[in-house]
Parts: sequence; C-alpha cells; structure tokens
Amino acid sequence: MDVFIPESAPFTAEQRAWLNGFVAGMLGMERALASAPASSPASIAAVTGTAEEELPWHDPTLALDERMKLAVGRAYPLRLMAAMGQLDCGQCGYECRSYAGAIADGSEADLGKCVPGGRETTKKVKEIVALARVTDAPGASVATPAPARGPVERGYGRDAPVGARLLSSSALSAAEADKETRHVVIDVSESGLRYDPGDSLGIWPQNNPDEVELLIAILRARGSEAVTLADGAVITARDALTRECDLRVPSESLYALLAREAKDEADRTRLDRLARDDGQAEALGVHDVLDTLLEFSSARPKIGEFVSALGRMQPRMYSLASSLRKHPGEAHLTVSVLRYERNDRTYQGAGSSFLGEHLRPGRHLSVFVQRSHGFRLPADPEANVIMVGPGTGIAPFRAFLEEREATASRGRNWLFFGNQRREVDFLYRDELEELATRRVLTRMDLAFSREQTSKVYVQHKMLEAAQELWRWLSNGAYLYVCGDAKRMAGDVDVALKQVAATEGGMDAAGAKRYFADLAKAGRYQRDVY
Ligand SMILES: Cc1cc2nc3c(=O)[nH]c(=O)nc-3n(C[C@H](O)[C@H](O)[C@H](O)COP(=O)(O)OP(=O)(O)OC[C@H]3O[C@@H](n4cnc5c(N)ncnc54)[C@H](O)[C@@H]3O)c2cc1C
Ligand SMILES: NC(=O)c1ccc[n+]([C@@H]2O[C@H](COP(=O)([O-])OP(=O)(O)OC[C@H]3O[C@@H](n4cnc5c(N)ncnc54)[C@H](OP(=O)(O)O)[C@@H]3O)[C@@H](O)[C@H]2O)c1
Repeated sequence: MDVFIPESAPFTAEQRAWLNGFVAGMLGMERALASAPASSPASIAAVTGTAEEELPWHDPTLALDERMKLAVGRAYPLRLMAAMGQLDCGQCGYECRSYAGAIADGSEADLGKCVPGGRETTKKVKEIVALARVTDAPGASVATPAPARGPVERGYGRDAPVGARLLSSSALSAAEADKETRHVVIDVSESGLRYDPGDSLGIWPQNNPDEVELLIAILRARGSEAVTLADGAVITARDALTRECDLRVPSESLYALLAREAKDEADRTRLDRLARDDGQAEALGVHDVLDTLLEFSSARPKIGEFVSALGRMQPRMYSLASSLRKHPGEAHLTVSVLRYERNDRTYQGAGSSFLGEHLRPGRHLSVFVQRSHGFRLPADPEANVIMVGPGTGIAPFRAFLEEREATASRGRNWLFFGNQRREVDFLYRDELEELATRRVLTRMDLAFSREQTSKVYVQHKMLEAAQELWRWLSNGAYLYVCGDAKRMAGDVDVALKQVAATEGGMDAAGAKRYFADLAKAGRYQRDVY
C-alpha cells in the first residue's frame, strides 16, 4: 500500500484515506508526465488557456456532432480538441487537448493519429485545419506554443516501444459465441517493463500477411523492392506494408496517386472526386486500401509510390488484465477480435486480429506501457471498490482483483459483469467464481443480455441492487467503469444518477453534482473506449 499521510497526522481515517489517494494520484500523474511531457495538464492549459471544467465536449460518450456543437465559437485549438475521441488514452502520444494544441501550433503535422476517433475524427480535424487556414492563421489563437516533447523513457510511450514475445493467445469465448474474445499473454520480462493495474499496453500491430501478399500481387510487384519511409529509413515494400502502413483507411494521397495512374477515364474522374472528398467512398464499396485496388482496376502504381501514399500505422491500446505481483514478467490482455462483413468481404481489425490470430506464440512484437491518467485502485487497502465492466471491460478488474488479493487488501470488492450469454462468453468464469468462493470477490452481479427476450444489462443489475449500491457509495466505496464508451458508459452513468435520486433523495442537479464531486475526489473513475 502507498501511505503518504502518517497515522499521527491530524486527520480522520477517511480523510487520511482520501489524502493518500490524492497524493498517490498526483505521483502517478508525475510519472506519466515524465514519460509524456507534452500531455501534461499544465502544458495543455498553456496551449489552450482553458480549465477542464470549461471543456463540456470532453466526454467520450458524446457523438462527434454533439461535441462539435458544444465547441462552436471556441478557439481554434479547442475546436480541434472537440473533434478528438475524448479518451485521453495516449495512443497518439498526447492527450486530446495537447494533440489539438500541437496541431494548432504546427508542431504536429500528422492529422490522423486519433485511432479511437477513427476516420470521422481525421476528416473533421482536416476540415477544421483547412477552415482555419482561410479564416484565422493556425497558431494565432494559441496562447503559447505546445512545449517540445522531451525524450520518452523506453517502453513508456508510442515512440519508444520495446520488444516483447507472445506467450499464448487462447479463446475466452466458446466457438458458438457471436464475438470472439481471447486471453493474450505477453512476455515482457526481457524489457523489464513495469506497470500498475489500471495501465494499458500499447501494441504496434502488423497487418494480415495474406492481405499484404495480395496487395503485392495486385501491383505485380515482388515485395522485395526497397522503399524509403518518411523518416528516410529504407526497408522492403513487404516490411513497409506489414508494419508501417495503415491498410484500413485509404488516404487522400492514395486516391490522388491512383487518379494520376488510372488508365480508365471513369476511374480517374471518380478517384479525383474521392481525393477531394471521400464521403462517397462507402457507397462505392470502398472501405479499405485493398478495396481501392479492387474497385479501380485501371490504376496500378509502382509499389514504392503506393507505399508512400498510404497513411501511417498507429498503435492500439489494451487494458492490462494482470497484476505483476501475480504474473511477474507478463502482461495479460483481454482482446475482442474485431471481424465484420461488408461488400461481400470479411474485414478484420488490425490490432485485435494481429493479437488474436496472426501473431504466433513465440514471435516478437513491439509494445509500450501507457500509464493511466487516474484509473487506479484506492491507496487505502481497506476501501471498498465497485467495478462495472461488461465485455472486455472486465480486463482491468481482473488486474484489480489479482492486486487486491496479492496485497491482502481487506476492502470489499463488488463486480458487475455482463456479456451476451453465460454459456459462451462469461469471460474468466472459473477464475471469478473461484475468487468469489475465496471471498476476494465479495459480490458478483451478472447481466447476460441475450438470454431472454428483452435486454438485461449491467445497469439493470445496478438498479436492482440500488439500496446496497447506495450504501456502499455512502460509506466511501470507489466506483470504476470500464468498457464501451459510446453506449454502456453513458447508460451506466444515467443509472447511477437514478440510484442517487431514489436512494439518496436527490434531484437531477443534485445527482449530477454528487457524481461530479465523486469523480473529482477520485472515487468515480472511468476507463472507456
Ligand atoms: C485505453 C484503451 C483501452 C482499451 N482496452 C481494450 C481491451 O482491453 N480489449 C479490447 O478488445 N479492446 C480494447 N481497446 C480497444 C482497442 O484499442 C482497439 O480499438 C480494438 O481492438 C479495435 O482495434 P483493431 O485494430 O482491431 O481495429 P481497427 O483496425 O482499428 O478497426 C476499427 C475500425 O473498423 C471500423 N469498423 C468496426 N466495426 C465496423 C463495422 N461493423 N462496420 C464498418 N466498419 C467497422 C471502424 O472504422 C473502426 O474505427 C481499448 C482502447 C483504449 C483506447
Ligand atoms: N460503439 C459501438 O457501437 C460498439 C459496438 C460493439 C462493440 N464495440 C466495441 O467493441 C469492443 C469489444 O466489445 P466487448 O466485447 O467489450 O463487448 P460489448 O460489445 O461492449 O458488449 C458487452 C455486453 O454489453 C452489452 N451492452 C450493449 N449495449 C449496452 C449498454 N448500452 N449498456 C450496457 N451494456 C450494454 C452487450 O449486449 P448486447 O450486445 O446484447 O447488446 C453485451 O452483453 C469494445 O471496444 C467496444 O467499445 C463498440
């Protein structure tokens, strides 16, 4: 346990626990700052000159349109910030505000680094930048340029990954489940990488090797051709397509290159249009890079030019699902393998299919630890915790429970977990039931959404247990939510406010204030994506 406030200090046990948590949080923040200076709240404030409370769009449950509405009339960097995914996940090497600030002051040229925001964020960012070039010069509304980013400690940021080795990737869901979820174990012992429960592991994916070979074949290349990357490095085309290029979202440069190369007039016209505005791409059946070559068969550029025109690969983040105390030298992940059908093709997510399917045990990958910006167990081992984590949201809570057991923490642990069906995707069922038997898990409420005609979700279970939930919160419990940002996290938040209304007698404004205060005190923490 981290204890910063001595027993002799003039505080009650509860005040001491709160202060210990506060200081631990500050120290955690300092460690994060050391590894990513440009993402510090201080530097962000310098860039945007705006306090956190004045950023109403900084909520990952809001859709892009809603966020942009809230940022109307705000300064250029703040409009850019509203376009970001709002996760502060560090995947881009910044937080949302500092990435926006760096684009605004011109120190960051890559507008496509926000993976959680996806293509709609990239598109909106480009739109805002283009508009600003016409209306106000970039940087004009920025108080101070974003500070130069200092060196990142090896292993603790996207630009300083370390080598690790896949030990195993095993199915957590049954073959009959609608979604495949895997337990991935990575050996990080050689790098000496350290992490705490609540941190995430960043991985640099490699593209599906079959897709890479298909692209090489379509371009009638060998794959061994030397290509030069933006940083001047010279590698083979096959390696570049495997590790360096984004094969998911076709870039404007790719459309422009194909338009120049197209022999067919109709192809050229359509590609010219896509290069200016790719809004029609989906309607044309163009969802990824391979689709562009399949759709525009008269355009066959040289492989070196093709590689240069593609977007850059971005890392993917996964919540760490293990405690180093229980699994020294290992990093465990809970990965939902993204697969979906479109245009008579099956598409795979780059990161999740790399970990779940393409990377063989024993092979190496590049990883880094992304320190959490505040998703942490209470410093006080006596404090009770309530964890809400449906689907892959269970990942950090497996780590929390392992840590609480390994440190013999006496606080009680209550888990709300949900998934589609008990028999096929009750993730970590044996482990959780075992923890419940040993009373490490004090209480487990389960919501299987597809076992009855109407949906049953974790928030329904929370409402059923409202009285007890309110008792725990009133007695100082810490509340954690992890998993889907767009649907689950918002609905759980609504349910919590309902609990405050029915059990705490609060009106809507009071309930809102209650959970805002709880969040400020570090007792309502979310890690959603
Ligand atoms: C802090 C953090 C922690 C995370 N923890 C976890 C975790 O513990 N476990 C986990 O599994 N994930 C986790 N994620 C999510 C993870 O990082 C990846 O986003 C996820 O695995 C998908 O990435 P991918 O590379 O497989 O897919 P990508 O190649 O990035 O593809 C995703 C894109 O595919 C498109 N797409 C997806 N579905 C469809 C569809 N049905 N139709 C059309 N297009 C579609 C969308 O454009 C979407 O943006 C976390 C994310 C963050 C930020
Ligand atoms: N934003 C999206 O549209 C979307 C959709 C799917 C997955 N995802 C992402 O896919 C990844 C993996 O998903 P996952 O395996 O963790 O599982 P998940 O898709 O989040 O599902 C886990 C459980 O949560 C239920 N659920 C669905 N909507 C909910 C809501 N509003 N409130 C509470 N529970 C809800 C699901 O039920 P049902 O499936 O039966 O409804 C399922 O039982 C995550 O990155 C997630 O963010 C995103």
